[in-house]
Amino acid sequence: MSRSAGDLVLEAQGLDRSFGGIHAVDDVSLEVPEGSLHAIIGPNGSGKTTLFNLITGHTRPTSGRVRFAGEDITGMPYSKVARKGLAKSYQITTVFPLLTVFENVRIAAQAAGHAYVFWRPADGIRAVTRRTEEVLERIGLAADRDVVASNLSHGDQRRLDLAIALATSPRLLLLDEPTAGMSPPETAATVELVQELNRDVTILMIEHKMDVILTIADRITVLHQGRKLFEGTPDEVRDHPEVKEVYLTGSR
Ligand SMILES: Nc1ncnc2c1ncn2[C@@H]1O[C@H](COP(=O)(O)OP(=O)(O)OP(=O)(O)O)[C@@H](O)[C@H]1O
Ligand SMILES: [Mg+2]
Repeated sequence: MSRSAGDLVLEAQGLDRSFGGIHAVDDVSLEVPEGSLHAIIGPNGSGKTTLFNLITGHTRPTSGRVRFAGEDITGMPYSKVARKGLAKSYQITTVFPLLTVFENVRIAAQAAGHAYVFWRPADGIRAVTRRTEEVLERIGLAADRDVVASNLSHGDQRRLDLAIALATSPRLLLLDEPTAGMSPPETAATVELVQELNRDVTILMIEHKMDVILTIADRITVLHQGRKLFEGTPDEVRDHPEVKEVYLTGSR
């Protein structure tokens, strides 16, 4: 398959989802080009996480379509979507608390490794070990490889969660508030890491911290009450009167 900078990794069209009387996501469309860092912002309850769940297959849309790397994945379960190269890093829920950092990442690398065929099992094991070490180095956890996950600081547990997602060599990485609950230095380190990951992975992220989003995003989609209120570059979002209004009078 030939890829160019303008290729869309993700294309969502008219996504819609209600829960009882609540219209959580209301006719939202989204286009994420290969290599970009696209952010979703919006007040509490504006539908950001639901939109993610519609994309990953955790929630079925009432209507609308999702295309990933040119393929229609609407309604496909996440286990299948993940194998196609869409990874998400939500909270530390994917971390096995009693295993070491190395073991946690190795399991993810191994799970993704089924795509390769090796003549000898030993070659497969070596490839998985190499990938694990490479990811730990990249995420800055190499020195903590033998630490039991539950003993890591909150910030490092979130890093481990990112490492697990990265170990599967995804084509698109979805991050739901990667800096939530982090101190300012931890936030700065995570922002740097996300930017570094974006050098070879397309990223779609939800983030509440405006300063973070305005510095790192290529494009920003603003949700409000389930609908797309605005979409544009950080400069356009910063100057948009309705966005300012929602953020000044909104719930946070
Ligand atoms: N499984 C569900 N069942 C019922 N209502 C739901 C469900 N999931 C989400 N909602 C409702 O849909 C709306 C959008 O919620 P969602 O979690 O997507 O918002 P959000 O933008 O991620 O908010 P936050 O900033 O607090 O994370 C809210 O009113 C929420 O209560
Ligand atoms: Mg949310």
